[in-house]
Amino acid sequence: MCGIVGYIGEEQAAPILLDGLSKLEYRGYDSAGVAVYNGEEIQMVKSMGRLKVLNELTHDGAMLPGTVGIGHTRWATHGVPSDANAHPHLNKTGSIVVVHNGIIENYVKLKQQLTRRGYEFRSETDTEVVAHLLDYYYRGNPLEAITRLMHRLEGSYAFGIMFQDHPDEIYAVRKDSPLIVGHADTGSLIASDVPAVLKYTRSVYFIENGEIVRLTREGMQFYNIDEEEISKEPVTIAWDVNAAEKGGYEHFMLKEMYEQPKVVRDTFSPRLKNGDIVIEELGMTDQEIRDIGKLYIVACGSAYHTGMTCKYVFEGLARIPVEVDLASEFRYRNPILDEKTLVIIVSQSGETADSLAALREVKKRGIRVLGIVNVVGSSIAREADNVMYTWAGPEIAVATTKAYSTQLIAQYLLAMKFAKVRGEISQETLEVMLEDLERLPEQMEMLLSNKERIQRFANRYLAAKDVFFIGRGIDYAISMESSLKLKEISYIHSEAYAAGELKHGTISLIEDGTLVAAVLTQEDLFKKTMSNMVEVKTRGACVLAVTVVGNTEVEKNADYVIYIPKTNQYFTNSLAIIPLQLFAYYVSIGKGCDVDKPRNLAKSVTVE
Ligand code: AGP
Repeated sequence: MCGIVGYIGEEQAAPILLDGLSKLEYRGYDSAGVAVYNGEEIQMVKSMGRLKVLNELTHDGAMLPGTVGIGHTRWATHGVPSDANAHPHLNKTGSIVVVHNGIIENYVKLKQQLTRRGYEFRSETDTEVVAHLLDYYYRGNPLEAITRLMHRLEGSYAFGIMFQDHPDEIYAVRKDSPLIVGHADTGSLIASDVPAVLKYTRSVYFIENGEIVRLTREGMQFYNIDEEEISKEPVTIAWDVNAAEKGGYEHFMLKEMYEQPKVVRDTFSPRLKNGDIVIEELGMTDQEIRDIGKLYIVACGSAYHTGMTCKYVFEGLARIPVEVDLASEFRYRNPILDEKTLVIIVSQSGETADSLAALREVKKRGIRVLGIVNVVGSSIAREADNVMYTWAGPEIAVATTKAYSTQLIAQYLLAMKFAKVRGEISQETLEVMLEDLERLPEQMEMLLSNKERIQRFANRYLAAKDVFFIGRGIDYAISMESSLKLKEISYIHSEAYAAGELKHGTISLIEDGTLVAAVLTQEDLFKKTMSNMVEVKTRGACVLAVTVVGNTEVEKNADYVIYIPKTNQYFTNSLAIIPLQLFAYYVSIGKGCDVDKPRNLAKSVTVE
């Protein structure tokens, strides 16, 4: 939800911190700040507003000389976006400085205790409590103060900490919020995510819960909560620096939409071998696959929508009962799980608080959890029993596109493998389906080349107030994702509706000119949805139809038609979503919205 950075080494710290924060702005961007030790004391500058405000205030860091510092970009959780609530936060004398990503759940009680001891607070944040609590415990030994702090805190945190009387050290500690450490030629860095350090190093350490890092000019030491030194192995990051940049596209979202064919291929290719599906990381024997009695797919937002789609794929192909749950609901509803249940947690970031909590709830009950995750080394990836990575690369735009598409692919592969192992489909059927799967990237490319036509259509609806997406079965799931895309980046109200359900109330909202997008990719449901199109059209709606090439009959009831190439009925979401992503994108830029950083949102929702 927020981004933290830190640097210690030979170079001036402030420019490196600001550059790192610019790579983390997708994690939150309502305020930012940096603190640098200038050889005598710690200097800090922080302000409300985007990172560029901080760049202006510090003259791109030149106003903050020094080679040790920490920085932060914020997505407000406790305390409105303001200068006072921006990080870093200080203790009373300014000799201890903290940046934080996460939420301290018991901060109110701690704040009351500190206030009774004479501490005064300048902000409404939970993080400031940490600065004062460190002050309370500090007797000259940073490690001791930090471990005592850790025993008192409840909630999630990744901290960057500086102690003025230890000017050649930075400390970092993690519980539940992501934290990495990078070792470069000219110094060492801490950050919330890989893009912030890629420019300086590919060798990173993923910090686990309860681990503390001390960074010095010579290198780094790792400790556990008992202050015992521990050893860790670095991971080499394969992403190139450009992968985390825009690559010539106007927006990250457009770049990532155009990366979909490649990353979809990257996700399935390594798992196809001689006409079979090989998912080594699955960690399940064929017998264990045959023993699966029920599947849960648990996720949030767009990841949840992939589950809604793949419920039909798993049930249709592998004949395994599937329940799809919002993680924020699943974790509190005391679900009925047994040893024959497999729970799949789908998450791009691998840090979504509700999805992580759902995973932990399931593991507490001894039930197998498979993660489908995009960020290597993320919390969900490391805490799941097994993880199947989606190879989408870094996804920077808040609105997911390429990660979504690879999540679908991962679940298609699982469903086909399960169906084959359980004897529900023949080798011949599998091979025909794999041919369809391998054709998807080129079909996606064809649909992406259609963007000008979509843009012209989108420009007609910049002033729309309500848009409806309707469909049945997988088409309903496609409608859910299309509606979310439009809402989150164009701020136009939209609803996805099971087409057969519209007449049970919501059809009363249809007026002259209301846009209704009907998705008709499921042959057996085509006529049913056609009749729903007539229902809304007779009430004045303007109907956009998305259907498979050849279904020209749809033109009788639609004002505008987008055809997608023919593919296996279970894979149509991967194609139909392309024009609908483009539609949302062009409405958003037509309205002048900030496509990559929509208001009120953050890329990774690491709080409840
Ligand atoms: C999708 O465009 C949204 N940004 C959001 O719904 C997202 O899918 C959701 O927060 C889940 O994130 P995750 O995949 O990182 O867990």
